[in-house]
Amino acid sequence: MLSIEEYQRRIKRVLVSEEEIREAIAKVAKEIDASYDGRPILLVSILNGAFVFMADLCRAITVPCEIGFMCAKSYYNNTMSSGTVTITMDLEQDLKKYHVIIVEDIVDTGRTLVEVIKILKSREPLSLCVITLLDKPSRRETDFEADIALFTVPNCFVVGYGLDCAEYYRNLPYVAEYSED
Ligand code: IMP
Ligand code: MG
Repeated sequence: MLSIEEYQRRIKRVLVSEEEIREAIAKVAKEIDASYDGRPILLVSILNGAFVFMADLCRAITVPCEIGFMCAKSYYNNTMSSGTVTITMDLEQDLKKYHVIIVEDIVDTGRTLVEVIKILKSREPLSLCVITLLDKPSRRETDFEADIALFTVPNCFVVGYGLDCAEYYRNLPYVAEYSED
């Protein structure tokens, strides 16, 4: 258990503020409203990291939409990737009925989404696209690119707005750089 002083000391600087996030979400929600109006939409959030982004994005969208959750694990209790992706909780919906929009927290190596997309495409959705809050292109190990990325972050470990370090910091309302130094 970290002391509150140590917990706060590891938050180095704000990279994306609450206001910047709010404005970017309002803009992307308008785009979704315009391009998906009249179509059956399923927003699919990848837990746990994308739960805050999903909560804010779905409330900014005004056209009818459904939501679903799946859990894909690729990180253990530190800042290193495990290199493998495991689906620990799956969707219940029949994707053949939906235009699927994947709502992700961050694209880092790209491995998680490459695997998730492979699985979801095999279920034949009407269409599939990916919206990510953050993009960290400097760390990419695949040729994956999201259809929409709200913010690009530098090559550092980030926490907040759903993103964690060993399950801490998910409840910060902004995105910050994390370091133990
Ligand atoms: P991938 O490397 O693109 O497969 O990213 C896998 C997952 O790792 C993301 O969905 C995040 O949940 C997590 N992740 C990647 N980079 C960071 C980071 O800087 N902070 C916190 N979590 C991260
Ligand atoms: Mg994630």
